[in-house]
Amino acid sequence: MGTTAPSTDGPATAGPSVARFDPFAGPPHLHGAQRVGVRPGTELIHPLAATGARPLRFEVTGLPDGLHVDAEGIVRGRAPAEAGTHRLEVSVANAEGRAHDVVELVVGEALCLTPPLGWNSWNVYGAEVSAEVIVRTAEAMVATGLRDLGYQYVNIDDHWHAPRRARDGAPLAHPERFPDGIEPVARRVHQLGLKLGIYSDAAHLTCGRCFGGLGHEQVDARAYAAWGVDLLKYDYCFAPSSGDEARARYGAMGDALRATDRSIVLSVCEWGFRRPWRWAPEVGGALWRTTPDIFDTFSWSPFGVRHIARRNLRLADHAGPGRWNDPDMLLVGNRGRGASTGVLRLPNQLPAPLRGRRIWRFRGLSDHQVHSHVTLWAMMAAPLLASHDLAASSELDLALLTNPEVLAIDQDPLGAQARKVRAPLGLWQLAKPLRDGGVAISVTNLTRMRRRATVRIDRVAGAGHGPVPTSGRWHVRDAWEMRSLGERRQVEVDLAGHGSTLVVCRPA
Ligand code: GAL
Repeated sequence: MGTTAPSTDGPATAGPSVARFDPFAGPPHLHGAQRVGVRPGTELIHPLAATGARPLRFEVTGLPDGLHVDAEGIVRGRAPAEAGTHRLEVSVANAEGRAHDVVELVVGEALCLTPPLGWNSWNVYGAEVSAEVIVRTAEAMVATGLRDLGYQYVNIDDHWHAPRRARDGAPLAHPERFPDGIEPVARRVHQLGLKLGIYSDAAHLTCGRCFGGLGHEQVDARAYAAWGVDLLKYDYCFAPSSGDEARARYGAMGDALRATDRSIVLSVCEWGFRRPWRWAPEVGGALWRTTPDIFDTFSWSPFGVRHIARRNLRLADHAGPGRWNDPDMLLVGNRGRGASTGVLRLPNQLPAPLRGRRIWRFRGLSDHQVHSHVTLWAMMAAPLLASHDLAASSELDLALLTNPEVLAIDQDPLGAQARKVRAPLGLWQLAKPLRDGGVAISVTNLTRMRRRATVRIDRVAGAGHGPVPTSGRWHVRDAWEMRSLGERRQVEVDLAGHGSTLVVCRPA
C-alpha cells in the first residue's frame, strides 16, 4: 500500500504500510463507542476505552444515579429505569496530557449502537472451546490493549454444552471444559470490564449437534441472564427453510431475552438465506449474518473474503445504529491455522457451482489480503470479531486490530455502511460518510497485479450517499499510516495486488 509512490519498485511491492499504535504509551486518547445502548434498569459494564501511558485518571460527569466509574475507567452499575439519553463528559489524564470526549448513554431497547467489537471462539478453537480458553482470551484482550481500543465481547461459540440438559430442562455446560459452569467465567470476564457471549440454535440441535434452544427459549434466556451472559449468537442448523418460521423462531428467543433483567444482544445467524436484514431488527436482532461461513481465503468462491464482501456490500441500505450486517468473523491471525477456517469439507451432494471438489485446504490470507479484509470490514461498519489466539498475535495482527483511526471509521456513530461507488480496472472504490461531515474512502485492488490510479475525492465522496458540500478541497489523512496527506482534491494510489488504501477526507 502507499499513496503517491513515484518509483517503480516503491512501497507497493513490500507488505502493507500500517502504523503500529502503542496503546500503553504517550498522551491519553479516548476510543470506542461514542453511543452506548443499554436496556432500562439492567446492568451496565462499559469500559471508557482509553490508551496512553499508565496510570490514567478518569473523570466523568453526567452519570445518572446507579452508575459509577471504577479506577480502571469502567462504567459499572445499573442503568436508569426510564428510557432517555444521558450525555457523559469523559476526561482522561496522564503525566503527558489530557483528553476529553462525550459518550452518549442511550437507555432504551436498542443495543449495539455501534458495531460490536470483540472475539469469537469458533474459527480458532472449534469444538475445543473451554473456560480456560475464554478466560485466557479475556486476559489477552486486556494485555494486548484491545479492550482499551473498544473491543469488549468475548463470545463462546458452539460446543460449550453438556451432552444433555438437566432433568428440569435447564441448559448445562460441558462438565470437563466448563467444570464450574458459565457463571464464574462471566464473572471473570466482567471483572475485566468485558462482556460474555454464548451460542445456541433455533432447532433441537446446534450445528455441532449439541442441544439447541427450540422450545426452551424461556428457560435458556433465564439461565443465560442468571449466568451473566451479554450476547447470544442464535444459529439455524436443523431448522426448516421457511422465512416465516425463521422469523417466528428468532422472535421467540428475542422475546425471551427481552423478558430477562439483562441487556442481551441477539445475533442472528441464518447465513443471509432468508433476508434477515428485512426482519431481524423487528424480532430484536442487533446483527445478522449475511453470508455462509467465511474461510481463510481471499478467493471469489462462496466462502472467500472477496465474495463475502461483494455480497455484504449490496446490503448497505439496511445497516445503521443497532442493526448491522454481519459478514462473519475476522481472519486476522488465523493464517490457515484456524480449526474451522483452514479446511472445508463439503458433503457429497453439491450444488452445481461447487461440484467436483470436496475438500478445500486454505493456506490463509497474505499480508496484503488480510489488510484489505480489515479495511473492507471497517468500511462496511461490520462487527469486528477476531477469532485467533490473541496472545499469539503477530505485530502485523496487532497493527491491523488496534489502529484507532480505522476503528473510528468502523465505530463512527452515524452508522453508515460504505457503498461501492466505482470499480474501474478491478479497483473497488468505497465511500462511507462519517458523522462529522467527513468521508472515509477506501480503494482495494481486486487483481493480482500492481495498480496505480488517481481517485478524485469529490467524485467518490458524493456518489451513492448524496452530494457532499465541498469547495472541492479536502484535508486528507491516511488512516492506516496515521498521517496527514495535506489538502488535496485527489489521491494517487499505488496498490500491490490485493492491497488496499484507506483515507479519511474532511472538507477543507
Ligand atoms: C455455523 C456458524 C458458524 C459457527 C458454527 C458452529 O452455522 O455459521 O459461525 O457458529 O455454526 O457450529
